[in-house]
Amino acid sequence: VYFRGVVEFSNYCADNCFYCGLRAGNRNQVRYRLTKEEIVEAAEVGYALGLKTIVLQSGNDYFYKKDDIAFIIREILSSIDAVITLSLGERGFDEVKEWREAGAERYFLKVETFNEELYRKYRPGRNLEERIRLLIYMRELGYEVGSGIIVGLPGQTLEDIAEDLYKLSEMELEMIAVGPFIPHPETPLGSERPGDPVLSLRCIAILRILNPWANIPSTSALASFGMDYRARGIEAGANVIMPSITPSRVRLLYKIYPGKNEGCKCVIEEIDFLKKLVEDTGSKVSDSKGYSPRRFYAEGS
Ligand code: 5AD
Ligand code: SF4
Repeated sequence: VYFRGVVEFSNYCADNCFYCGLRAGNRNQVRYRLTKEEIVEAAEVGYALGLKTIVLQSGNDYFYKKDDIAFIIREILSSIDAVITLSLGERGFDEVKEWREAGAERYFLKVETFNEELYRKYRPGRNLEERIRLLIYMRELGYEVGSGIIVGLPGQTLEDIAEDLYKLSEMELEMIAVGPFIPHPETPLGSERPGDPVLSLRCIAILRILNPWANIPSTSALASFGMDYRARGIEAGANVIMPSITPSRVRLLYKIYPGKNEGCKCVIEEIDFLKKLVEDTGSKVSDSKGYSPRRFYAEGS
């Protein structure tokens, strides 16, 4: 099981997804942005704790320009021998190209749902086709590409989810993430029913069978239903755990959904806890960089 440290460096977001607490319309969310220096430092702390992949994640925050992110990537790579994954939302073609050239090796961008009607409804101002086009472009740039869905969005049927699993698998992704929907009170979907965590586990199991080479995380959304679910995610076929390595000062403000980052107060505590959880399932924690073997096999090398 590979560990990836996630630096949630800004909770500002220009978008207004109906399910997410970071949506621009949520005026009750206290906002923060880390400085470039703080982001680099958080990555170094993660590396010192044994994490070989650093995930830079934020809302869709255009405050950080193309050159800012490129600078951060270069700074991190000049001091530590880690892999950088970006999870910055939908950005420009020129931006993702520049960041690839700066040394980022992976990009994570969930489609959330392949049902166009739900997509239009819950992701105002956004277009599914454009998102998929960006994912294809990132693949051409040589990124390891990740995507995924939310399980149990209001109005989503089992047929929708089956179709999502099929389409995700068709994309031959290096990383696939699924997590149950968790209603956030300060959003338009705040009083809807949560997704079913057991159905999410089944989705992980099916995705593992369809995508033997993909890296699949046991997500923190799953853990919100009880820590046991994170272990069951590993047992169902997930092979990645992504502890938050966001500084303690701000980590509770990254409130995509209720419960997020509430498990542990500090980074060291969280990593130790999760390592033990993985070992208790009978799995081993890997200290390698954890590339997906997909390309290795696809190239027949
Ligand atoms: N429940 C579960 N997952 C959510 N996300 C956003 N809001 C929710 C929610 N209420 C996930 C989305 C998105 C990431 C930021 O978090 O999949 O990609
Ligand atoms: Fe912003 Fe992502 Fe949340 Fe949508 S899901 S509001 S893009 S942080």
